[in-house]
Amino acid sequence: MHYFEYQRGELYCEEVPLDQIAADVGTPVYIYSEKTLQRHVRVFDEAFAGVPHLICYAVKANSNVNLLRRFEEWGTGFDIVSGGELFRVLKAGGSPDKVIFAGVGKTPEEIRYALDSGILFFNVESSAELELIHNIARDAGMRARISIRANPDVDPRTHPYISTGMQKHKFGVSLPEARELYRSTQKLSNIDVVGVQCHLGSQITEMGPFEEALVSLRQFILELKSDGVALKYLDFGGGLGISYNTEEPPSPAVYGRAVADATKDLGLTIVLEPGRVIVGNAGILLTRVLLKKNQGTKKFLVVDAGMNDLIRPALYGSHHQLWPIRQRADKEIVDVVGPVCESADFLAKDREIALLEPGELLAVMSAGAYAFSLSSNYNSRPRAAEVLVTGETYRVIRRRESFEDLVRNEIETTSC
Ligand SMILES: Cc1ncc(COP(=O)(O)O)c(C=O)c1O
Repeated sequence: MHYFEYQRGELYCEEVPLDQIAADVGTPVYIYSEKTLQRHVRVFDEAFAGVPHLICYAVKANSNVNLLRRFEEWGTGFDIVSGGELFRVLKAGGSPDKVIFAGVGKTPEEIRYALDSGILFFNVESSAELELIHNIARDAGMRARISIRANPDVDPRTHPYISTGMQKHKFGVSLPEARELYRSTQKLSNIDVVGVQCHLGSQITEMGPFEEALVSLRQFILELKSDGVALKYLDFGGGLGISYNTEEPPSPAVYGRAVADATKDLGLTIVLEPGRVIVGNAGILLTRVLLKKNQGTKKFLVVDAGMNDLIRPALYGSHHQLWPIRQRADKEIVDVVGPVCESADFLAKDREIALLEPGELLAVMSAGAYAFSLSSNYNSRPRAAEVLVTGETYRVIRRRESFEDLVRNEIETTSC
């Protein structure tokens, strides 16, 4: 569900025509709908209304501080995976006591930064990391709250690059190893065990994997209880999918009910780490057609957004719907490609879309998550601007990069 809709044949974000933003800000430009973001946070929160819970938005999905500030205002906490993300959250006014920190390779500096900031807990991903966190806390005379990331070996049935909850993945520790780790914490003077965490993967579009993991986790938590390990939190991660094209993922309500039903008698606060389901359909990438080109039987539509702006089609083979800014009946089958010097630089292949001419605008839909946050300067292309629409107004929340920005951190040396 989102607020990008046609009004009298013209595509709008809420009450702002998209061609107005393109005229004022240029293209390519990411455009987010505040009303959509707020609705998604509310719907997700309501799905867990019956149980004590904390929603920690997964910052990696879209980390613009202006969005984080709004999430803070709407009551979410944050799931981070780096010191940089913690910096962003604090800059946005996020409460450190609602921040959780995952990731298989946290550096000593990042751990110390998180301890000093007073985050809610670390999601520990290995025995080596548990020891590292303990030693850093002990040396600083502090206590570290931790959950252990349990890897339940459940196939999330999503793209392999965004699957994380199987034994073959680098994430978390197996349930037997996790049980051992919990036992070992009794000897760690500066560790406070507060929870258990599990994240299966991203863009999960069926309930089966979640249900399977909930059965394992439930059993695991009961075993821990019999070992005398008392937990406060069950962090069930993120992963709920969205509809990019024809997918029909479970609604937040169905997902929330399954989690609540499986856990409500455990007496735990449920932590969730949604990313994509909050921001994915709340953003688009607006691009302009540069030219058309025929190569044998192939027709190419060359646009000004490249794989440096949106790498998802190249990286995951992902599908983004392409909507013209002006509705039209005529259609053609084209490859929509960017200007980057890679054959992987495409937004769509052999796709039937509205017949467009050079200079016209195209909206790449469902580009709010893992889109700008995965963008780069490849081919020395300045990164796109980002705009947030609120009703009839909009603001640039990240200016377009300049050529000077490209070389800002490069240090010129003279040969000696
Ligand atoms: C640990 C962790 N939590 C939460 C998320 C967010 O996942 P999603 O955006 O699919 O909700 C991710 C992303 O893969 C993750 O790795």
